Amino acid sequence: MSSMRLRRISGTKDILPDEVSWWQNIESITRQIFSSYNYKEIRPPLLEEALLFNRSLGDSAEIVRKQMFIIKNDKDTYALRPEATASVVRAYIENNLDKTRGLQKLYYLGPMFRLERPQKGRLRQFHHLGCEVIGLREPEVDVEVISLANHLLKSFSIEGYKIKINSLGCAKDKKELTQILSKNLKDKLSQLCADCKVRFRKNTLRILDCKNEECVRIVSKLNITDRHLCPECSTHFALVKEGLGALNLEYEVSPYLVRGLDYYTRTVFEITHQDLGSQDAIGAGGRYDNLVSELGGPDVGAIGFAFGTERLLLVSSVKCQASNGNLVYLITLGEAAKKQGLKLLDNLRKAEITSDMDYENKSLKGALRKANDLGAHFVIIIGEDELKKDVVL
Ligand code: HAM
Repeated sequence: MSSMRLRRISGTKDILPDEVSWWQNIESITRQIFSSYNYKEIRPPLLEEALLFNRSLGDSAEIVRKQMFIIKNDKDTYALRPEATASVVRAYIENNLDKTRGLQKLYYLGPMFRLERPQKGRLRQFHHLGCEVIGLREPEVDVEVISLANHLLKSFSIEGYKIKINSLGCAKDKKELTQILSKNLKDKLSQLCADCKVRFRKNTLRILDCKNEECVRIVSKLNITDRHLCPECSTHFALVKEGLGALNLEYEVSPYLVRGLDYYTRTVFEITHQDLGSQDAIGAGGRYDNLVSELGGPDVGAIGFAFGTERLLLVSSVKCQASNGNLVYLITLGEAAKKQGLKLLDNLRKAEITSDMDYENKSLKGALRKANDLGAHFVIIIGEDELKKDVVL
């Protein structure tokens, strides 16, 4: 058999031991902050029926059309989850969470899968840290969720980001905005990019946040404002902005922000970072007031967001090299000392003191160098003298 070397799949990453400490750092800050806002962790499966995403994100969403990892057998079609909102809502409905505790504030951390063309900040297996608050339509919840996202970024020591918000309005308002766009773009169709020509038929709103220069130029002339909002949605949006203002949170209203998933209604937001290239969104979210009932649950409002952990790491300074600060490194000289050392090592570990030992019988100099390389904070040496006196150095 030839010894061909297998490689990881493009768009996936090995998170190596040196980097794992950054991840643990981000994860532990995340748990701490969510917990201080009284959110509880939920862990839905990575595999779901593909239909869940078709119905939640919409058949016309790019994720559903092009990016789902599908696994089929004779009778079932599964998908590796491309995002977690749909799964959390399914779990909420299936486990009757509405009946047990009313308002649910849930957070999650974990891998997501999208069959995208890999590039910097765009992977096929990436991670989300996010939350979903299910049960209320009140604008105060929108304010809590956006300020929580901001709090997380501050705690990750991230600066230089921008929070953009918009309101899509209710289903009726979204339809109206779609009609305005269709009417105004009909005779400019030939000037739009290839993707937007498809969007015009399948997901018209997405034309608004196309990055293609020509599309941006055409769309900016349409002078889109929040005119399409009904009085209730308009008031809701005004209260969200007022609440964010009261917390001195900096944001920018961006009427061209629409997001690509069908489930969004009313408030949507996106957080971008100046140091990232074309994939500059570090996180995004919004309300989805109709999704829970559309999936067979009660008629309750909901809102959430997700950050892409890899993108957070690209711009965060929590990446400081982790030290092996408390490591105790044991060096023994000679067989008898080694036996004694093994017992001592066992006791240190039973006392939960981070410790390790030179198993390689290196010279004292070599073993000390190794301790240094490992970043050990203490070294214990047992040689013949120490053995005789029943002490350690
Ligand atoms: P999303 O905008 O699709 O929203 O993803 C959220 C974030 O995940 C993005 O802003 C980006 O940072 C990161 N991300 C997305 N795709 C990739 C990729 N291929 N590689 C690396 N990072 C990526 C959602 O998924 C919604 N479920 C958010 C939400 C929660 N809305 C309501 N609740």
